[in-house]
Amino acid sequence: MDERIITEEKIEEDNDTEQSIRPDSIEEYIGQKDVKENIKVFIESAKIRDESLDHVLLYGPPGLGKTTLAHIIANELGSDIKTATGPSIEKPGDLAAILSTLEPGDVLFIDEIHRIPKYIEEILYPAMEDFSLDIIIGNDGNSRNIRIDLPPFTLVGATTRAGDLTSPLRDRFGIIAKLQYYTKEELTQIVKRTSRVLGVTIEDDAAKVLASRSRGTPRIANRLFKRVRDFALVEGLGVIDKEITEKALDRLKVDNLGLDEVDHQLLKSIIFKFNGGPVGVEAIASTIGEEVSTIEDVYEPFLLQNGLLKRTSRGRVVTKKGYEALGLEEMA
Ligand SMILES: Nc1ncnc2c1ncn2[C@@H]1O[C@H](COP(=O)(O)OP(=O)(O)O)[C@@H](O)[C@H]1O
Ligand SMILES: [Mg+2]
Repeated sequence: MDERIITEEKIEEDNDTEQSIRPDSIEEYIGQKDVKENIKVFIESAKIRDESLDHVLLYGPPGLGKTTLAHIIANELGSDIKTATGPSIEKPGDLAAILSTLEPGDVLFIDEIHRIPKYIEEILYPAMEDFSLDIIIGNDGNSRNIRIDLPPFTLVGATTRAGDLTSPLRDRFGIIAKLQYYTKEELTQIVKRTSRVLGVTIEDDAAKVLASRSRGTPRIANRLFKRVRDFALVEGLGVIDKEITEKALDRLKVDNLGLDEVDHQLLKSIIFKFNGGPVGVEAIASTIGEEVSTIEDVYEPFLLQNGLLKRTSRGRVVTKKGYEALGLEEMA
């Protein structure tokens, strides 16, 4: 499968600009009002108490601002941030090594925290609870436990799958925040902010069109922004107006709901091969030649979230709205 322009997952080309367009203070972080307001209070309180902020778990679909928020938390605390990812922690020593670099008040950001192997995860429990690191040195016949004190620190964990976290780990986070998909208005603000940062002008109605095709996801909005800018530079007047935006998005085959050809293909295969469902996800997967997990994690969430597809006990069903999205009539 080719890379999709509307994928929420981070792709190579996001890297060059993601740093510069990433907001670095809580004031600049658009939307997520409840999460933001609560975190502000917790940060203030930690500062007043002169203690480290409680551990924070951020969860929600890719591209909604988890990594961004983790860095903002560190900035607002005036702390350094050290980062790791779940998959990069392969043995107990990897985690012990990271923990032993921490300085008082540091933020340790572990992305994809659900992917730390369970037996390694246990090292985190005393680290989070008592700021101590229990390690076993030596080997079978001749081993002993030693306990090392860690400085107070704040663990910020991010995950797309809160359900995959074990409850002992989840229970050790004092602050758990679920990020939501962004409204069209919030995405419009994000697009305008990006245009200011990158020094390109976008007209209001163009920003709205872009926002409405971005699947509630800032990462997608920013990526589409850059592609539309390319069209405006080469085929337009330099300024991003509504006309060039619509033209560019049509050329990129992103429809007015933000669906791309993969979404269309998935919906169509259910409609035409399985009469609109219900059909099991395994059958859909083999029809369109994809992994079940890819369908469940990457393709389906947006379709389900927007009521184009429905999950029933007997399988997936395309809804009336799903038919309409393709310009089709629901079959009786
Ligand atoms: N609340 C926000 N306000 C402005 N821009 C945002 C916001 N959240 C995310 N972004 C933008 O979206 C991009 C992707 O966000 P990121 O934090 O990497 O998402 P995640 O870690 O959840 O996958 C960032 O580079 C940033 O530019
Ligand atoms: Mg991230």
